[in-house]
Formats: sequence, structure tokens, C-alpha cells
Amino acid sequence: MQVLLKGLRLLNPDQGLDKKADILISNGIIEKIGSIDTSEIKDVKEYNFEGKLCVPGLYDMHVHFREPGQEDKETVVSGSNSAAAGGFTGVACMPNTNPAIDSAEVVKFIIDRGRDHLVDIDPIGAVSKGRKGEGLAPMLELYDAGAVGFSDDGTAVKTSALLRRALEYSKMIDAPIIEHCEDESLAGGSMNESIVSTQLGLPSIPTVAEDLIVMRGILLAEYTGGKIHVAHISSKRSVELVRDAKKRGIEVTAEAAPHHFTLTDECIKAFDPNYKMNPPLREQKDVDAIIEGLQDGTIDCIASDHAPHNIEEKEMEFIYAPNGIIGLETQLGITLSELYHTKKLTIEQIVEKLSINPRKVLNLEVPQIAVGETANLTIIDTEKEWEVDIKSFKSRSINSPFGGRKLKGKSLSVINSLQMFVDGEFHSI
Ligand code: DOR
Repeated sequence: MQVLLKGLRLLNPDQGLDKKADILISNGIIEKIGSIDTSEIKDVKEYNFEGKLCVPGLYDMHVHFREPGQEDKETVVSGSNSAAAGGFTGVACMPNTNPAIDSAEVVKFIIDRGRDHLVDIDPIGAVSKGRKGEGLAPMLELYDAGAVGFSDDGTAVKTSALLRRALEYSKMIDAPIIEHCEDESLAGGSMNESIVSTQLGLPSIPTVAEDLIVMRGILLAEYTGGKIHVAHISSKRSVELVRDAKKRGIEVTAEAAPHHFTLTDECIKAFDPNYKMNPPLREQKDVDAIIEGLQDGTIDCIASDHAPHNIEEKEMEFIYAPNGIIGLETQLGITLSELYHTKKLTIEQIVEKLSINPRKVLNLEVPQIAVGETANLTIIDTEKEWEVDIKSFKSRSINSPFGGRKLKGKSLSVINSLQMFVDGEFHSI
């Protein structure tokens, strides 16, 4: 089967590629790039993407699919459908499932669940058995089974000693430890510690809880030579710590989630649990620092922290509701609206943070837009204006604070693994 994509702007900063061309895909492989005349080709499905952007398939390195254990919230397949709808051709899924991704069996189970899907599924193995922080998970076995990084996300690695060992093991295979940066002894609140938490009388989590664990990770990465990746960075001080560590040549990378560069703890005043996540929404100074960190390269990646929860749980009183919001289907639109259309980031920087850098952090191949390569592509209309309708999402859950928000920029199609997702449907190609 052949597919012809007409009129694209091909953009891949990793290849130094930026040009206007058509793409012919045959059996999932890019066969021709250039000005392609349809009359030359028989049996071809043609799509007119005049002026639209074509980039290496987007990759979200931080999602929570709830399989195994809480399939009513999300499965590997429903989460992957949500990823495809959001413009992603690959995701890394976090190990706080039940059971946790702490054995080769669970790693293989998840890979198997996603096997025939358009979206590549890369499991993140747990650092500790059951994520309990008592002993290391069999990290090398998890890696051999297909895990691409390690994390106890949901919580930080419990002790410095365990993190040190985890870094030593992961160094052998050049994989990152992805740290949820939060000091347990300072955590336990349900929002950021600020004037707003005082006004609302809610138990709070100070930014220093994050900063301490970011600093611990940096120091231990320096000491062991291992790689630390700071998940969902949310505080100004943490951004400064990562910036300084990078200057000193320490192997540290970081990601930020769209809610942390668009929303502040002022949103909590409505007591809507769809604004509750961990780390919590911070203050404007933190939002500004995250944007600066994205601009100067301190923050390498944008990742959703897609965290589905069912409505019964999420609609509890604010302090009892679980942490987390879904994000796969709003991430690209928010990023383009808040960072590209406001001229805070260039389109090249956005492609780096949403496609290239996450794969580099996880040592995955960056898709190339070149003849002979597998077609792994996202086609984006940066100018498309749309309103977030959560009910139309592919995710099984609806816990998003962005319902009704007007956005500019949307994925039109994704292509990978001999499939194309376009107009809300998957097709074999
Ligand atoms: O808000 C969050 N939700 N933060 C986390 O670290 C975990 C996640 C989840 O699994 O729900």
C-alpha cells in the first residue's frame, strides 16, 4: 500500500532538515521525497497537507497507563489511542502500576499489550521492588526485557543509598534514573505552600521538598557518573540547580509538564481536584523560571505526566482526591498556544522537546525523515484553532482542567508501524 502526503514542510532539527516537499510511503517506508506527481503512481492514497508541518513522530517520556491493575482508568491500548490522537508515536510508561513494573514479566506484558499498536510503548522499570524503597528491582533484567529507564515515580527513590546503587547499575547500561523529586518528610500536602495555601487552609508542599531531591540527584549523579533525569520539574530553584549542574558537566536532564508552565496555584481557589497533581501547581515566578529553562535548554523535554483517574475518585473533596491529570491530547495544543504562538520558543525548539530530546534521554533512535527510513511522523497544523472537548478524547479518563480551553495548533495525523491515524481513525498503510 502506498500513501502520498502532499505539500508538507518537513522539519527535523536533528537532521538539519527544513524544506517543502511531498512524501511517498510504501509499506511503511519513506520511498520518495520531493515534488511527486500522482499520475506516475498507481494505487496510492493521497492526502493534501499543503503547508502543514511534518516532524519526527512526537514522543512523550512520562505517561501513566494503568495496566496492569487499574484498567478502568486507562489500558495500554486506550492510552496509546490517546497518544495517537494527541500526535504522539511513542510513549514511555511509568511503573506505578499494580503490580509495579518491577519484573521482566510485567515489562514483557506491557510491551505485548502495545505490540500491534501504532504507538511505540517503552516501559520504565521500577528502581525498587514494588516501588517500596527497600531493595533494588532487578534493573538489568528489566532492561533486558525492554525497560528503557528507571523510576519510582509517584515518590522519590526512598534513600540516598538506594539511589546511589541505582545510578551505579543504570550507568552500566547508560540508562537514566528518572526522579520524582520530592522529599517525603516535607511532602504529604495537597497543594503548593504559598500565601494561597494559607488563605485556603489546605495542607501544603513547599518547593524546597523538590529542590532537596533535585540536589541529591545531581550530587549522586556527579559522584557515580550515572544519569539523573528530573521528572516534571516545577520550582524555580530546581531549574537553577539543573542549570548550574549542566554547566558543571554533570549528567542531568529535565522535563516540564504543560500544566507547570501554564497554570499557578491560584487555580486551586476553585477547589477543583482537576487542578490537583504532584508536584503541585506553583507560583508565577516558578512558571516563569520553567519557561526560561525551556528557552535556554536547561529543560530538555516537555512531557505530559498523563495520569488518568476515574471520576468517582477525582470528584472527592480536594484533600482526598488523587493527584494527577490526563494530558496526552492537550499537550501539543497547549505547548503551541502558550510557547510557540507567544514566541517564547521556536518551532524547532518545540520539536526538540516533544520528539527528539525525550528519545535521546532514553537512548532511543530519533526517527529520520529520509528515503529508506521507516515512516514515523507527526503532521501538525500549527494554525488550527480548536476548543478542548474532553468527552471526545480517546483516553478512558476525563480528569483534565483544560476542558473548554481554546487552543491554536493540533496534530492532524500520525504515522508509524505500518499504520496511519487520521480523522480520528487508524488505517493500515
Ligand atoms: O500527579 C501525579 N500523578 N504525580 C505523580 O507523580 C503520579 C501520578 C499518578 O500516577 O497518578
